[in-house]
Amino acid sequence: MTNIYSKIVGTGSYLPKKILTNHDLEKMVDTSHEWIFERTGINQRHIASEDESSVDMAYHASEQALKMAMLSPKDIDMIVLATTTPERKFPSTAVLLQNKLDIENGFAFDINAACTGFIYALDVADKYIKGGYATNVLVVGTEKITSLLDWKDRNTCVLFGDGAGSVVLSSHEQPGILSNKIGSDGAYKDLLTVNTDNEFIEMKGNDVFKIAVNTMGKLAVATLKENNVNINDISWLIPHQANSRIINAIAKKINLPKEKLIMTVSEHGNTSAASIPLAIDYANSRKMLKDNDLIMLEAFGAGFTWGSTLLRF
Ligand code: ACO
Repeated sequence: MTNIYSKIVGTGSYLPKKILTNHDLEKMVDTSHEWIFERTGINQRHIASEDESSVDMAYHASEQALKMAMLSPKDIDMIVLATTTPERKFPSTAVLLQNKLDIENGFAFDINAACTGFIYALDVADKYIKGGYATNVLVVGTEKITSLLDWKDRNTCVLFGDGAGSVVLSSHEQPGILSNKIGSDGAYKDLLTVNTDNEFIEMKGNDVFKIAVNTMGKLAVATLKENNVNINDISWLIPHQANSRIINAIAKKINLPKEKLIMTVSEHGNTSAASIPLAIDYANSRKMLKDNDLIMLEAFGAGFTWGSTLLRF
């Protein structure tokens, strides 16, 4: 019997037209381009328009991913979508996307693991495919995270941006996804949160920063070790894009040269669950990713949640 693997066969992304630069933010809150850029590496972020939802953005990204995979929506038998900013409380954003793509078969559901959502979604999709329960899965990260910002709070409003990324994960005779590692610990629930009675992001940035660096560093080391992978064999690290200082600290911890880092935080800001699929498509659409490249994905987010994926492209 041949093994079933799962492999990314198409990628797509969407960024809203409106761009908000650090200089624009200087006119809104007591901040400066220098402060934001030095602390985070962010130059600008995209902002969804009022009538643009997380479903709309996911739709555009998914259309592109399907096109690259040379599949039509009817070939999709599962949608797993990561978001913290659903268009409605219910039905899920995944079901709304399914409807917008005119898909009548299969099933669709959302995952909320904050900024780690895409890695969780990829893990679930991989397991459905390897178990023989799905063949072509749309794995999506989409966020209108700026709808959760208090534009008077300089501690948070400078950090985030909107967008969506999508991949088609299909069953394949070649690997594909080699390993997934996910974790969570709700003891940190108050360090980064949106309470239902407030609806704005509240964050203890300094604490989040330290724990993110520590957790992601250890996770990267463990992922390499458990898979018997030498750092020289890694073609790319595509981490969650929250802060260039966090990303550089992880690269340093595993001795990864900076040329092997995909960095989009400067242009996108932190797009939460959308940041990794956006970064994958950023690199793929620029022909940076080659067949058989060994790629590590890594994320950290509210909860806290964390996760890594090792894959052959
Ligand atoms: N402009 C100017 N000054 C600011 C701003 C701003 N936008 N925001 C905060 N400050 C001030 C603070 O008020 C503080 O002033 P004080 O010393 O007079 O009290 C000073 O800058 C230092 O604040 P810190 O919070 O200690 O600054 P720090 O160096 O930790 O940088 C930052 C803050 C960028 C938020 C950093 O902690 C960080 O990136 N943390 C990670 C948070 C994150 O990425 N969260 C996203 C979700 S989790 C994830 O995706 C990994």
